[in-house]
Amino acid sequence: MRVGVLTGGGDCPGLNAVIRAIVRKGVKEYGYEFVGFRDGWKGPLEGLSTPLDIKSTRGLLPRGGTILGSSRTNPFAIEGGVEKIKANLAASGIDALIAIGGEDTLGVATKLHALGVHVVGVPKTIDNDLNATDYTFGFDTAVNIAVEAIDRLHTTAESHHRTLIVEVMGRHAGWIALHSGLAGGASCILIPEVPFSIEKVCEYVESRYKYNYAPIIVVAEGALPQAGSIVTKDGSLDAFGHVKLSGIGEWLAKEIETRTGKEARVSVLGHIQRGGTPTAFDRVLATRFGLHAITAIHDGDWGKMVALQGTNIVRVPLAAATEKLKLVDPALYAESETFFG
Ligand code: F6P
Repeated sequence: MRVGVLTGGGDCPGLNAVIRAIVRKGVKEYGYEFVGFRDGWKGPLEGLSTPLDIKSTRGLLPRGGTILGSSRTNPFAIEGGVEKIKANLAASGIDALIAIGGEDTLGVATKLHALGVHVVGVPKTIDNDLNATDYTFGFDTAVNIAVEAIDRLHTTAESHHRTLIVEVMGRHAGWIALHSGLAGGASCILIPEVPFSIEKVCEYVESRYKYNYAPIIVVAEGALPQAGSIVTKDGSLDAFGHVKLSGIGEWLAKEIETRTGKEARVSVLGHIQRGGTPTAFDRVLATRFGLHAITAIHDGDWGKMVALQGTNIVRVPLAAATEKLKLVDPALYAESETFFG
């Protein structure tokens, strides 16, 4: 069997670990051949590929990014895109495809499965917002990067008696903000799922100063004030219609300085959260996802996504995984409010 592999959407540490596991097990245990499609769905759409074998995947485990490249190409937004993909898969003699990606990449996989393409999905995103899986790989690494930054920002905030605002990624989900804020001892955590009161945030800021501590506020890029709206970069959209989020941190700093008279500074962590080597947790999770994905291919279990439920890797319908985002339950968020102020 010839199996195609692609990595789509925002990259993250762990992608190469998935590729390594898929190829190692597929060649050793099933005798499969592999084709690596380049740059997400652009690869099958334009016939861009590279051979994948055990030799070409050696040393990948700790390496960040993806050796195949990635993109946010949406074949359903391109005239004749699906037909081109089917023709290129046939021309390459591909019997089945493994798509490694987030809601957008796997949303395309869901639709292609319904159109007869043999595909299995692997859940990837630092946002951890894919439904039907407890965790995605990339998330633990992003949280650890954010926590290291928050730990560092505590010391400079204390030295200058300033409010330090840390803007983290996560698009419309607050998982990175919630986990990194809790682990980093933030005085306030703001997430998209719970619009915030700027007055309340300023109360928390004032309260920290009363105890001679400098406030650290962790804000998700998609967080929004109750009396306001999401802050975007320039209103532009990507190929899947997502608006580019950026600026909530600066908005908060201005409001805090104006309302409290205290100095505030902003650190936007941005793509640092997506870079570098994966944590051990992500290396293990990514490896297990890869091993189970190629087994699903061997079983001919098309249209499924491998998922972590508890400590088990299971298979769930791609449609269930992509029908909605997994967002932070306000009750879970409420646990962290004990530490605010
Ligand atoms: O989905 C992962 C993610 O990092 C989001 O958290 C972020 O909003 C988005 O990708 C950034 O997209 P890009 O890398 O295309 O700018």
